[in-house]
Amino acid sequence: MQRAANKYGVKFSGRRDQAAGSRSAEELLCALRRASVRTLTTADEPFATIGLGKYFPSAAPFGARTFNSCAVVASAGSLLNSALGAEIDSHDAVVRFNNAPTQNYELDVGSKTTLRLLNSRVLSEPQFDFLGSAMYRDISLVAWDPSRYDGDLKQWYNSPDFPVFTAYFERRLMLPDEDFHLLDPSSLWSVWNFLQTHTYTSVLPNPPSSGFMGIALMLERCDWVDVYEFVPSLRMTKRCHYYDTEENEFCTLGAWHPLATEKLLALRMNHASDREVFERGVLRLKGYSQLEC
Ligand code: C5P
Repeated sequence: MQRAANKYGVKFSGRRDQAAGSRSAEELLCALRRASVRTLTTADEPFATIGLGKYFPSAAPFGARTFNSCAVVASAGSLLNSALGAEIDSHDAVVRFNNAPTQNYELDVGSKTTLRLLNSRVLSEPQFDFLGSAMYRDISLVAWDPSRYDGDLKQWYNSPDFPVFTAYFERRLMLPDEDFHLLDPSSLWSVWNFLQTHTYTSVLPNPPSSGFMGIALMLERCDWVDVYEFVPSLRMTKRCHYYDTEENEFCTLGAWHPLATEKLLALRMNHASDREVFERGVLRLKGYSQLEC
């Protein structure tokens, strides 16, 4: 694999944890907790000054509600024929990603959606029909787009990767009561720093995947988080997503996002048995409320 160009100017100045390999699940979760994962608020600049701040929701995602059990559903092809749908739906909150459908896949992925975490392509490319599709209605939404590693919000506002702001503010005007948030892009790099701090080799200089950001968001809000087919189970195939036929093993192992690093660390934070992880495809992580950090 070719090394990625450092498009975002990632320059890790932290110190790698020399004892990373022997950290417990709790220690790693406590370190992830220290990463700042936040969504933008009415007071954030430059939005406040240019009159756009008022369009951000006044409360945190879910109105700051917390949950007992949460399911985070990675979109991997190996969810097909898993029959995990009913189990996924039994959680208090279910997180899905981008345009991953439930219709026609209920048996394997369930039908309940509490939150969708969206990359900025979904907001800005017509094929996703972000404004028209029922897939994005009546649920909580959090969208992300990368900034430069050392960039501030003003720099990001002036040069996002995709035209995320037009789509975001247009929708906020149309649906002002919707629970729709923008992730502070420095959260991506804060989580990236966590990945690099606990990895001996150099981590790809690109943002973490939506899947790992979804895990980080929910650990703060759920007593426990079950993560489906993020660490590949024995059902693993080359199929990229359960909902389309593209075959590309890099979807699972990572070529652009530092997916392999994310998955190795997620596995180390897991409390479920090998049978749960590798036969059934389910990781169980303790939410931050269950830790003594
Ligand atoms: O491809 P997409 O980003 O929409 O998938 C949502 C998330 O599911 C990814 O960000 C990644 O974390 C996870 N995923 C995975 N293995 C795949 C496909 C997706 O772990 N084969």
